[in-house]
Amino acid sequence: MLFLPFLVLPVALCWTNVLVERTLDVSKLYTKEIIEITAKNTEETPLSAYVFPILKADEPNLAMVLAAYQNLVVPARALNKLGLYNELEVSLPSVEPGEEITFSIQIVRLEDIRPSPDTIPLDGVQNVVVSLPRYVPLPYTTSSYKIAVVGASDDIKDEQGVFQSEPHGKFVTLTPKTASEIEPFAEGELTLLFEKNAPLPVAEKLDRSVWLLHWGDSISFEETYETTNKAAKLQGGFLRLAWMQSRYQYLQGPYVLAYDMELPRGFREAYFVDLVGNVSTSTIVGNHLILRPRYPLFGGWNYNFTVGWTNQLAKFVRKSDDNTYLVKVPLVNGHTDMSYRNVTLLFYLPENAKLVDFKSPIPYEDYKVVTEKSYFDFKGRSKLEVYYKNLVDEFKQSDVVVKYEYSAKDFWMKPVIVGGFLFVALMSYLLLTKVDVQIDKREQ
Ligand SMILES: *[C@@H]1O[C@H](CO)[C@@H](O)[C@H](O)[C@H]1NC(C)=O
Ligand SMILES: *[C@@H]1O[C@H](CO)[C@@H](O)[C@H](O)[C@H]1NC(C)=O
Repeated sequence: MLFLPFLVLPVALCWTNVLVERTLDVSKLYTKEIIEITAKNTEETPLSAYVFPILKADEPNLAMVLAAYQNLVVPARALNKLGLYNELEVSLPSVEPGEEITFSIQIVRLEDIRPSPDTIPLDGVQNVVVSLPRYVPLPYTTSSYKIAVVGASDDIKDEQGVFQSEPHGKFVTLTPKTASEIEPFAEGELTLLFEKNAPLPVAEKLDRSVWLLHWGDSISFEETYETTNKAAKLQGGFLRLAWMQSRYQYLQGPYVLAYDMELPRGFREAYFVDLVGNVSTSTIVGNHLILRPRYPLFGGWNYNFTVGWTNQLAKFVRKSDDNTYLVKVPLVNGHTDMSYRNVTLLFYLPENAKLVDFKSPIPYEDYKVVTEKSYFDFKGRSKLEVYYKNLVDEFKQSDVVVKYEYSAKDFWMKPVIVGGFLFVALMSYLLLTKVDVQIDKREQ
């Protein structure tokens, strides 16, 4: 065969997908998908690269794509391509000719779930549609294809009627009505319709600030949210009196009655402010701070608020070596079942600390390091800003780690410079918090 170095073989020849099983979790306001692929090497040489195309039009909605083999994440690199797709090249262990391998691709996507119709009366029940590609658009032929849907009602319907559905208690399976081989890059849409009488809250913007205060042995968080409910709009408009007299204020519906913020255990000094001041109410239940706006947030309504709290520093920071510290903070801490469009994570290091490095569990858009000078600061305070797009509440299990250098000398520098009175004041503050910590320890 003629060897053409820059001409890639038609990839469709390399692998055959023996089985593609797609599990679609629609229990939240975004979709989580696990695509399990069993592929056979139909070449005459061992293979290890599998190409997984990603529709370019889909990319602004992606929160996460990863490849896993035997429960471990495997490396994948993005190959930018012309046309409709970008390609992800997944590096699998080497597979001999004629042998098979099973691995998975996991995808989290925002905005797949929409109300249908998009306006309903107060006593209506919301239905939603999920629109996805009907097949996983793979560059190889697929012999057998199945879908399992988790988190939808049993009466889930495939609007195009290509699949037959069968409920199995916790999930519904969809299998093609006519079984036949699926061609590479097979097209078509899958539109699923089901009942979901719940709000679809999205944070269009979140600024999450973290202050590291070695002085007070504390770490303080402040979050400013701009949220919107993407659920069905209320037909006929909102009448406060009608709402107050209705029973819906006690029932689950497509409106947000409260944001349930799961905060790091042991949090204290929590506060909650919205634009109209401190008039909305908040309750603490265990490590949850439950925020109740004055009005229910119906579909299309926006709500801005700020929430803050403090934790003990030692729970988040550890000394790595001599003058180096590591702080580990979850990507988000907010409401369960929420997606985030634009997030800025801000770390305010202690005065005179120097940023060494940071590691993010998922790719960020950009970052910036700035030094801010305040009135009392001698050299200034370094701030790390990391920008993300498309996060989801489940990323609260993933941590960003920031490494910084900070010496005991720096620790004492500030009060010495600003003079006696403040020094005494800060010292007594420090002593007081130390006493508090000891009381906490005895209680545990
Ligand atoms: C503001 O919030 C704090 C903490 O939740 C509460 O103690 C205080 O009473 C609130 N003030 C007003 C005016 O609602
Ligand atoms: C929320 O904040 C954004 C940006 O400041 C503003 O455009 C929007 O009107 C605010 N929404 C509400 C309901 O206050």
